[in-house]
Amino acid sequence: MSYYVTTPIYYVNAEPHLGHAYTTIAADIIARHMRERGEDVFFLTGTDEHGEPVALAAEREGIPPQELADRNAPRFQEMGERVEASNDFFIRTSDPRHAARVAEVMQRVYDNGHVYEGVYEGWYCPRCADFKTERELGPGHTCPIHEIPLEREREENWFFRLSAFEDDLKRLYAERPDFVVPDYRRNEALSFIERGLEDVSLSRPKLEWGMPLPWDPSQRMYVWFDALLNYYTALSFARDGEDLTDRYWPANRHVLGKDILKFHAVIWPALLIAAGLEPPRGMVIHGFLLMGEKKMSKSLGNVLDPTEVIDRFGADALRFYCFREVSFGRDGSVSAAGFEARYETELANDWGNLASRTLAMIERYRGGVVPDAEPDAELASGEDALAGVDGVVRELLDRAELTQALEAIWARVRRLNRYVEEARPWDLAKDDSQAARLEQVLYNLAEGIRVLALLLHPYMPETSGRLLDALAEGARELDAFGARGGGQAIERIPPLFPKLD
Ligand code: MSP
Repeated sequence: MSYYVTTPIYYVNAEPHLGHAYTTIAADIIARHMRERGEDVFFLTGTDEHGEPVALAAEREGIPPQELADRNAPRFQEMGERVEASNDFFIRTSDPRHAARVAEVMQRVYDNGHVYEGVYEGWYCPRCADFKTERELGPGHTCPIHEIPLEREREENWFFRLSAFEDDLKRLYAERPDFVVPDYRRNEALSFIERGLEDVSLSRPKLEWGMPLPWDPSQRMYVWFDALLNYYTALSFARDGEDLTDRYWPANRHVLGKDILKFHAVIWPALLIAAGLEPPRGMVIHGFLLMGEKKMSKSLGNVLDPTEVIDRFGADALRFYCFREVSFGRDGSVSAAGFEARYETELANDWGNLASRTLAMIERYRGGVVPDAEPDAELASGEDALAGVDGVVRELLDRAELTQALEAIWARVRRLNRYVEEARPWDLAKDDSQAARLEQVLYNLAEGIRVLALLLHPYMPETSGRLLDALAEGARELDAFGARGGGQAIERIPPLFPKLD
């Protein structure tokens, strides 16, 4: 089955920071997991290059917006590579192929009678490129996100008749209980809809950096329409000479932060319906990574550079840390000290040591060949059983419970560590009458770390891949505990997570 997953496209007005990397990694974990389930996955990320935030940043630097975009887009591309994102395409909204497709879709919205001309007045945040309703304003008419005073703007422009889609949206939410997960974000979006929808402006008369409206080129399209459509347009040109739209549309999962919920959970499905297209199947909303108490953001200047973290701890450790430390969906603080502590106790000790010990004992006691034995009932059943862990993780990841799934895996890592301590293979090895038991324990350890490495692979592709190679496991498909017998020649490898200096 096809499975299409996306990240938001990143504004090129800033350099990538850990907050952006976080969204990308979340989507990547889902994409990799679905590939391991044999799905036909397409994973999209990219950059949002039009609109006021970008135009303003370029103006501050005294360069044309396209130049700023050309300079910063590759940085987001590199960030993706550094965090091991496995995206199948990287879209840039300044791509003329995107523009052509956007014009096509927007013309359909116009032809279907869902736009009109009018006057807009409201509080506008240029950094968000968004008008704020009275309810959303911070103290003293400020932006609650950027904490800057807002201006009252009045403009003549085109409107999208969002209010006409209230019933369609309510029906969509009723038919698909998991349209937005987690459910507290779904409730937020739904109550926004139930309070009554206002039409939204679709164009900006003053803006120069953006796409002209197909039916009125004197106005530029509001950046959010051009941006949201990336999810749809990319499929038409991501592969040379091939249109992937029928294969992958509607998208299965848009992954995004809570700050852009309204655009995705309300405006986006309405726009698609207005154009006669199918809305996405679902979306996954995450919280913010905080430094101290505040959202990490370029404008607040409290950013952690992911490349610095990766240089020190490795990309896998960063990926692990973000989803272990902060409960996915909620806001949570990250810190350098936190990284270090988790790296030492969980990655180096719990997991890295378990892997090293297992490989070392198989080499020492059985000449480097995994013995052939049966799953140990003790491990296979009971609390945190190894048997069935693949199903548990699948089910959690179907609901985008990235932190809970990781905890389910980690409970088994700890379970295997207890198993080694209780079974004491080093004592069994001294006693010839215990040979069969020793083989059973070694088999169970090898099989246990194989199954866990497969489950961890979406979270930590590099180190899990190395461990799976060492275990002579070539396939990257989820597998059940006990599904593989023994007989493979293993390899010793250097520590997966070497101790930090
Ligand atoms: N360009 C729009 C998205 C258009 S999608 C059609 C945009 N770009 S952004 O660069 O500002 O943010 C992109 C993503 O990064 C959002 O999901 C946002 O939530 C996420 N993050 C940016 N800072 C973040 C944190 N500090 N923590 C977690 N994610 C945050 O919005």
